[in-house]
Amino acid sequence: MAESMKGLKRTHRCTEVTAADIGTQVTLMGWVQKRRNLGSLIFVDLRDRSGLMQLYFEEETIGTEGFEKAGSLRSEFVIAVKGTVERRSGAVNESLKTGELEIKVTELRILSESQTPPFPIDADITVKDDLRLKYRYLDLRRPNIQRNLMMRSKIAMLTRQFLAEEGFLEIETPMLTKSTPEGARDYLVPSRIHPGCFYALPQSPQLFKQLLMVSGYDRYFQLAKCFRDEDLRADRQPEFTQIDMELSFVDVDDVIDVNERLLAFLFKKCLGVDVSLPIQRMTWQEAMDRFGSDKPDLRFGMEIMDVSEMVKDCGFGVFSGAVADGGVVRAVCAEGLGDVSSKKMKNIEKTAKDYGAKGLAYIQLKSDGTMKCPFAKFLSEEELQKLIEAVGAKQGDLVVFAADKFKVVCDVLGALRLKFADELGLLDKFDYRFVWITEFPLLEWSEEQGRYTAMHHPFTMPMEEDLEFIDTDPGRVRAKAYDIVLNGTELGGGSVRIHQDDIQEKMFECLGFTKEQAHERFGFLLEAFKYGVPPHAGLAYGLDRLVMLMTGEDSIRDVIAFPKVKDASCLMTNAPDVVDDKQLEELHIAVTEEEKEQTAE
Ligand code: AMO
Ligand code: AMP
Repeated sequence: MAESMKGLKRTHRCTEVTAADIGTQVTLMGWVQKRRNLGSLIFVDLRDRSGLMQLYFEEETIGTEGFEKAGSLRSEFVIAVKGTVERRSGAVNESLKTGELEIKVTELRILSESQTPPFPIDADITVKDDLRLKYRYLDLRRPNIQRNLMMRSKIAMLTRQFLAEEGFLEIETPMLTKSTPEGARDYLVPSRIHPGCFYALPQSPQLFKQLLMVSGYDRYFQLAKCFRDEDLRADRQPEFTQIDMELSFVDVDDVIDVNERLLAFLFKKCLGVDVSLPIQRMTWQEAMDRFGSDKPDLRFGMEIMDVSEMVKDCGFGVFSGAVADGGVVRAVCAEGLGDVSSKKMKNIEKTAKDYGAKGLAYIQLKSDGTMKCPFAKFLSEEELQKLIEAVGAKQGDLVVFAADKFKVVCDVLGALRLKFADELGLLDKFDYRFVWITEFPLLEWSEEQGRYTAMHHPFTMPMEEDLEFIDTDPGRVRAKAYDIVLNGTELGGGSVRIHQDDIQEKMFECLGFTKEQAHERFGFLLEAFKYGVPPHAGLAYGLDRLVMLMTGEDSIRDVIAFPKVKDASCLMTNAPDVVDDKQLEELHIAVTEEEKEQTAE
């Protein structure tokens, strides 16, 4: 039976009660974590978002009826209790913030009862993610998820505080808009009033924040919801939040400066961690060469080594052929993995192939002094020894080689490097290694589209010193773009924008847009630029990723209150779902019979 809380007012959250309150009366409200009956005594752990408090009931104090009521309490009942704070008579629980205290209850009310939850409300549970997400409101009661969302709230508040103090204005930009140029697929919203027309949900506020610079707002920020219809991964959701910003009259260094101070501020205030400034910078080329990735994990070494020069004339066709074809041969030496089993080696080869390798040449220098090297027969004894020496491998190590085009070799060895580090236990979540990646290529060749695409977006400024190559060798032009990377995750990225129309036109030309196409898509921005555009630059973080790394979680789902699963659906609400024919009619949308059948299945 549910009782009212009339006449009672909560005085504290559970863990707000301290030893200083001993002897005083408090009123607490929350959920029953656990009840234990010890004959004449009943103990209950009460939980709210702050943590737990132990309550005890004895018939003498609470009366027969109250004692019976206490005996009927079950997990997840919502109760209100009034009582006296006491020092625990039993053993102190060191693991609890309130471990030395308990409440002797004088009044109990059951505010609502609960069915048995489908899984216990504990930090450590081993239930399927699907079940957790179906009952997300219960999952959200778990203390670790609550801690994550509290951390998220704190990060958001501190970000606002910091940026406001730095002179940024928080301005909202529309959700119902035109397609933005971030390169993923758009989520579309049909228009009722304009038959056949669609809004796009923003992939980012990119164009609007640039317009705000044209309008003179100077420094803008927003915690912006963004939508991208792309394949989901552990660090990707279809809707996510950016800490988005744009600044006028600045260059790369200015954006980096304010942002690294923001990061240092957040890490200090939230985690007590000192981020030493300035944060290291690395060019894209160096990151690719040394780590095979534009988001290098710097918590460990295991750097990639180039042996192209050494093997270009060797007897192993895979190596010499790759170099002759304009590719490279590079290696990674994993210290201490020389004894991996054949099964594990197969698995390593599979990872390499998943990342585009045609095969994986390797040398296992086993700790018993023997060696396994499937390509040894193609090299002379001396060539093999020189190769082993060149990569610094010793007994007990595993060396893997990738021979292919630069990009493939980077992808493969970059991925293996991470796999080996994981295998060797080199990844400490609480060791925070930041790095700025700078001087990205402006353009990226797309085999699929048979043209160059913008690596960042079409408004990114080329580096002045590379402008001369834009017609002759566009792939060589570097951009004034930067990413902030933490422990192998791209936290954020941005660029200096083009504000000169001749450069912008060149850029569209490189991307294969005609003048008309460019105007059709971005006309309003180009038009605005005719009325006095300041030089400007900006950056956006993935807030979810930032919170994920700061809380030590492996998935951004654990830092988003109501996330979607891999197929972009919400297991709790069942979205996306079919809608009434009437709604469709109003929106001038016809669903084909086949699609209806598919949905029914
Ligand atoms: P970009 O596309 O690099 O840049 O996005 C910025 C940051 O947003 C995060 N992010 C995501 N997080 C979760 N799920 C996703 N699907 C997802 N996609 C991106 C990443 C990424 O670094 N307008 C530019 C920024 C600028 O130039 O100012 C932009 O959106 O952490
Ligand atoms: P093959 O001569 O193709 O049988 O290859 C001999 C060895 O080289 C095998 O162990 C392959 O896995 C490996 N290998 C093949 N292609 C490559 C490549 N592109 N890079 C590195 N190793 C390769």
